[in-house]
This record gives sequence, structure tokens and C-alpha cells, in this order.
Amino acid sequence: MSAKTGIILKTPQQVEKMKELGSILAEIVANLYELVEVGNTPLDLEKRAIELCREFEVNPSCMGYMGYPAATCIGVNDQAVHNIPKDNKFKDGDIVTIDMVIDQDGWFVDHAVTKGIWNVDTKGRELIENTKKAMEKAISTVKAGKTIGDLGAAMEGIIKPLGFSVLRNYVGHGIGQEMHEEPKIPCFGTPGQGEELKEGMVFTIEPMVAEYEPDITLDSDGWSTRLTDGGRFAMFEHTVALNASGVEILTKRSEKGLF
Ligand code: MF3
Ligand code: CO
Repeated sequence: MSAKTGIILKTPQQVEKMKELGSILAEIVANLYELVEVGNTPLDLEKRAIELCREFEVNPSCMGYMGYPAATCIGVNDQAVHNIPKDNKFKDGDIVTIDMVIDQDGWFVDHAVTKGIWNVDTKGRELIENTKKAMEKAISTVKAGKTIGDLGAAMEGIIKPLGFSVLRNYVGHGIGQEMHEEPKIPCFGTPGQGEELKEGMVFTIEPMVAEYEPDITLDSDGWSTRLTDGGRFAMFEHTVALNASGVEILTKRSEKGLF
């Protein structure tokens, strides 16, 4: 079955390894989240991310991935996915997304959060809150026999009625001994369509949401992106496993996790 679909199922022991690593990533990202404050810069967070990777003895997987030059992707307001951190200062009202992947002993985990700084307007707060809600809704949909289309429909079902939109050219993905494995997990879909979810699957759920239209413009650095219409962007992401007992979030701090 996995040969046919290209999906690599994981054993409970492998999921356990990814969960330990996921709790480290959650800890690192929670630390970076605290640093998203007026006057700090994406580059400050990047430096801290690299320090924390050293402390926890994990690799920042994005660094060097297809030539990407940083450990983190950090976007502000209309900046969408894969933004190379720079020295622009965060301002009151900014909406900041941190996305990071780490690996250890050949296993990868992926996690992203969005934070609004102080006086974010109502629409911006709605964008952030509902992006998180879309992630939670899709996670609660993960069950054996459900399909990838059910997950996308769950995400878009929260986002679209609010007048926001989901990105179409970037998707969630299987993850394990590679950062990106099969299957692709779009943030949109038709219920009952697409690959069936099975025990042993590990993948990311990552609603990527635009305030208005989802069209993206690529920067001349070849990585950083912006929403073409200047709307703002939000994204939340967990790495999850479908175990015998149901869905499990792997990128969570033990018990007292923020996210
Ligand atoms: N979480 C991002 C993704 O899965 C990180 C990619 S690393 C980068 O696409 F190098 F491509 F930025
Ligand atoms: Co990802």
C-alpha cells in the first residue's frame, strides 16, 4: 500500500521519537514567540533559534535546504511563507509568523505560529484566531477512514465564510525521515475525496491564510513571498500522527504547552 501511494507509514516507536523532537521544537518556537515584540527583529529571533538548536542538540533543517540561508522563516503582515529573516524592527500592530523545522538522528518535525503585537485591529485578530481554529478543526478531523479532502474542507470551511482565503500553491505534507514526504495536504478540498487517512501516517496540518486573495509574489531572493494585494497573512502548523488511539499532536510542549 505504501509502495503504491508513496506514503511512508511510521511505527509507534518512530512516532515516539518524532514526539520527543516535536516537544523540543515547540519549546524553541515558544521562546521565539516571546521575542516577537516591538523593537526586536526577525534576525534577533533567527539568532536565538540557532542558539537554542545548539542547546537542544538538534539541527535547524531549513538552513541549507535547497539553498535556503536561515534556520527560520519569519514573515510580517503581507509577507507570506518562506521569508528569510532580516533586520526590520517589529512594530505595534504587526502580525508575525514564525515557521521552523528541526531534525535529529534523521527525523524531522515542522511547526509554525502567528502572533499579533499589541494593538492589532479587529480584522487582523480575526485572521489570526480563525487560522488557528482552522488548524484545530482539521486536526480534530484526523481519523482512520477520513480523507485528505476532509482536512482541506475543514480548513477552508472555517476560512472562506469569513472572506479570507487559503493559499493554493503551498500545502501541508507528510514528514518523517524527510522534511517533505507524500502525501500533500492542501488547505482546501472536497469531503470524501483524496487519499484515505491510515494509522501510522504522520503529516503537517498548516492552514496558510490570506486576508483577501491568495495570490503570491516571489521576491528577487528566490524565497521570500508577499501577498500580491497587500493583505495580511497568518499560519499555524502542527506535525500530527494518526495512532491506533487517534490523532496525536507531536509539536507540543508537554502538558503546559502554549499552542
Ligand atoms: N515549513 C516550511 C515548509 O515545509 C519550511 C521550509 S524550509 C525552507 O515548506 F527552507 F524551505 F524554507
Ligand atoms: Co511545512
